[in-house]
Amino acid sequence: MSEAGDSAFLRLCRQRRSVRRWSDRPVEREQLGLCLEAARLAPSAENAQPCRFLVFDDPVKKAALARAVFAGIYSASARFAQAPVLVCLLIRESLVVNRLAGRVQGTPFQFVDAGIAGEHFVLAAAEQGLGTCWVGWFDGRALLRHLGLVRRGYKPVCLIAVGHPAPDIEPREPRRRPPGEDVAWNGPPGS
Ligand SMILES: Cc1cc2nc3c(=O)[nH]c(=O)nc-3n(C[C@H](O)[C@H](O)[C@H](O)COP(=O)(O)O)c2cc1C
Repeated sequence: MSEAGDSAFLRLCRQRRSVRRWSDRPVEREQLGLCLEAARLAPSAENAQPCRFLVFDDPVKKAALARAVFAGIYSASARFAQAPVLVCLLIRESLVVNRLAGRVQGTPFQFVDAGIAGEHFVLAAAEQGLGTCWVGWFDGRALLRHLGLVRRGYKPVCLIAVGHPAPDIEPREPRRRPPGEDVAWNGPPGS
């Protein structure tokens, strides 16, 4: 799967895949700590550091969270309740960077920041052989209610399911556009 000339980092990017089934093996807090440290080191607009990572590794608390956020139309995501760890990625918006500058300039930087920090987390997990999946299909309003965070200035962005991959999960080549198709040099995109 690796290509000649790949750096260790590119090999990691090629190897990471979304994992939606896990073994029962618990995830060590030390491993999660490395992922959280990678996330903490992520850059953010104006260094506003809006991300908050809420880690659920207690089976009872994780199950209660999963019941709240994977109900109704979100039950398509119920399989993520089986992940040994569920991480809620929230942002706390900064008035100046997010509400004012973002509104004038147009880019919601807080979500850019969350994407960067979340992917730092995910790649640090992959480096340790952990399997993760970003989960966007969950009930964010129910999450805020469940955690007592309604109208407290937080916005849910995504969940990240974490665990040791089930033993039968095979490595696979990422399905992506051919190299270059998403790139334009010195001008507008071709498509
Ligand atoms: C922001 C975001 C939200 C996602 N939400 C879900 C989700 O709700 N359910 C799911 O099964 N996968 C979800 N995924 C995983 C994508 O489907 C997956 O990354 C994509 O198909 C590419 O596959 P790969 O990660 O194995 O390379 C999400 C990924 C991202 C980045």
